[in-house]
Amino acid sequence: MFILPNNVTIIEVGPRDGLQNDKKQVDTQHKLTFIRALQGAGITEMELTSFVSPKWVPQMADAKEIIAKTQHIGRQFVLAPNAKGAELALEAGVRSIAVFVGVSNSFNEKNINRTTAKSMEALQAVIATLKAAGVFVRACISTAFYCPYEGKINPEETLALCHWFAAFGVDELSVADTIGMANPQESYDLFKTLKEELPNVLLTAHFHDTRKMAMANIFAALQAGIDRFDTSAGGLGGCPFAPGATGNVATEDVVHMLDTLGIQTGVDVKKVCEAVQVIAPYVSRSIDTGMYRLFLNGQ
Ligand code: HMG
Ligand code: MG
Repeated sequence: MFILPNNVTIIEVGPRDGLQNDKKQVDTQHKLTFIRALQGAGITEMELTSFVSPKWVPQMADAKEIIAKTQHIGRQFVLAPNAKGAELALEAGVRSIAVFVGVSNSFNEKNINRTTAKSMEALQAVIATLKAAGVFVRACISTAFYCPYEGKINPEETLALCHWFAAFGVDELSVADTIGMANPQESYDLFKTLKEELPNVLLTAHFHDTRKMAMANIFAALQAGIDRFDTSAGGLGGCPFAPGATGNVATEDVVHMLDTLGIQTGVDVKKVCEAVQVIAPYVSRSIDTGMYRLFLNGQ
């Protein structure tokens, strides 16, 4: 018998992870329509955008406008890599902020231009400020399983980083298979240990689907007691500084699987597909997820 939760929370990352790496610069108005359509599909937690350097990630340069023009129901996150990003997010009135760091030093240097240790040193003060301001803090842990530059990551290093963030008071850890290389055993083992060792932090799994292993990894994580998953409508996504990181696992496909297992998400697959249809003409990738293909065929 499988051990499955009754409810799962979907954290939609399409407007951020999905669009940050697209070859096309998506117009702010189309992003807003996409976000609203996703909220209308029942998504209550979403990464809307990032306060990062526009020189590094031009696709997120309209963060301030995105925040000003969206409704902040549930938890609507922005990403912030450093004190400046957190400051801009607070000024914009954001109440849920995601900091991010790589377990792998090589990846962190490419992504944030700092060693992992330097990033963490700086983030300690950022997290303290955010918690004092009553903000919900999520920490995204990149290269938790594999790194595009260093290969397999020792799980002990990932666990140490997660413990460090928990000790500094983050509310949630989103643990990521950045380049989609983990297998279900690795997923189960890491999430089982995290569940046992960090019972007071919300634990979320973030799978990129490079090798079509994400769904199997999610099923393994469910067995380990995980009931929060980052997913991206249309399977869009990828990090500009992680070569080989194709899209995230698709929201519509994950919600469909959970629906068939009788697990409640509050998210409507058809409406997610309608949201995908809203953004599809403006992204460079052709979208071909299982449920979106059926939707286009009228099924
Ligand atoms: P840096 O060049 O070392 O920054 O970049 P700096 O501190 O030396 O500052 C240089 C300039 O950038 C200054 O402006 C700063 O004010 C400005 P200037 O004086 O030259 O005019 N600056 C900023 N502007 C806006 N927002 C900021 C900010 N910080 C400094 N927050 C930096 C360091 C961290 C800024 C840069 O490397 C950066 O923006 N990196 C972001 C990379 C990124 O967004 N990656 C994708 C998200 S992570 C991801 O996708 C993984 C995830 O999905 C999980 C997974 O799958 O693994 C979460
Ligand atoms: Mg990602």
